[in-house]
Amino acid sequence: MKLLVTGGAGYVGSVVAALLIEAGHEVVVLDDLSVGHADAVPGAARFVRGTLREAAAEVLGEGGFEAVLHFAAKSQVGESVREPALYWDRNLGESLALFEAMRAHGVHKIVFSSTAAVYGEPEAVPIPEDAPARPTSPYGQTKLAIDGVLTEFARMYRFGAVSLRYFNVAGAHGRFGERHDPETHLIPNVLRVPSGEVPRVDVFGDDYATPDGTCVRDYIHVVDLGNAHLLALTAAEPGTHLIYNLGSGSGYSVKEVIDVCRAVTGHPIPVSVGPRRPGDPAVLVASSERIRADLGWKPERDLRAMVADAWAFARGESA
Ligand code: UFG
Repeated sequence: MKLLVTGGAGYVGSVVAALLIEAGHEVVVLDDLSVGHADAVPGAARFVRGTLREAAAEVLGEGGFEAVLHFAAKSQVGESVREPALYWDRNLGESLALFEAMRAHGVHKIVFSSTAAVYGEPEAVPIPEDAPARPTSPYGQTKLAIDGVLTEFARMYRFGAVSLRYFNVAGAHGRFGERHDPETHLIPNVLRVPSGEVPRVDVFGDDYATPDGTCVRDYIHVVDLGNAHLLALTAAEPGTHLIYNLGSGSGYSVKEVIDVCRAVTGHPIPVSVGPRRPGDPAVLVASSERIRADLGWKPERDLRAMVADAWAFARGESA
């Protein structure tokens, strides 16, 4: 299939673009490089630099596209609290421009990169897709709003849409990995200690109501996550908007993650326990039963594999 990948210079977008190419698809990446990196775009993909508002209509106007995989977004919870207008504009506004361009050029199939942040503080875990969506940040609100638009476009314009709600994505795929600036995610931050970049890692609170007092999250390997996108492409049906959680269904605490990092790197990784980070729920674990049942997807790579692949990527050993 000829596919448009928005945000294909970012972490998840570049991994999925690489997996699509490996599966034999033709990929065009559209990315404005506001967050991503040009050298993260797979060599076999055609790269167009631009925003969705500027360039989506022109690119799709070439013709031949069968579907869009939409990753381009701002994705930092804390930044979204400080700059909500930026998030509404860049996430919802740019997405609307993309969907209108798809409509104009008769491309109706889309896989959308959504997030566990749409659920906010959960009432119960594991979280199913029909749990109340009460996002606690503008980031989560914008992603939920885009889900709402996709539901409407499926109803009105026969879009076949699939939203994938990611839990904690980690790991790398060869030379495609995580390079955020600033980095806020746990595993790459922990690995900065054995890399020699920082002397210790900050643990944001150890007084949560969890077994060891640190927050519990559901980590999923970026390749397992990417494979779900390939399945979702085949599942997108005109007139339907499917929503699936993507997690492993198992939770690991911050301390457990650091222990795995110690085991993988052989480094003692000193920690410094500080105050809680505002907005962090104690436990976020997905129920991914729906995508397992509907599409036969299941995660195959455990936390140790995520850390090992992230570590190889951090050391530049995976090129
Ligand atoms: N943490 C630390 N030290 C760090 C970084 C993180 O202790 O240096 C802790 C956090 O407080 C949290 C856990 O590690 O308890 C995981 O934090 P991440 O930032 O790696 O991930 P989050 O669970 O906060 O965020 C993820 C996604 C977001 C999404 C959110 C939903 O990355 O995109 O889940 O709540 F919005």
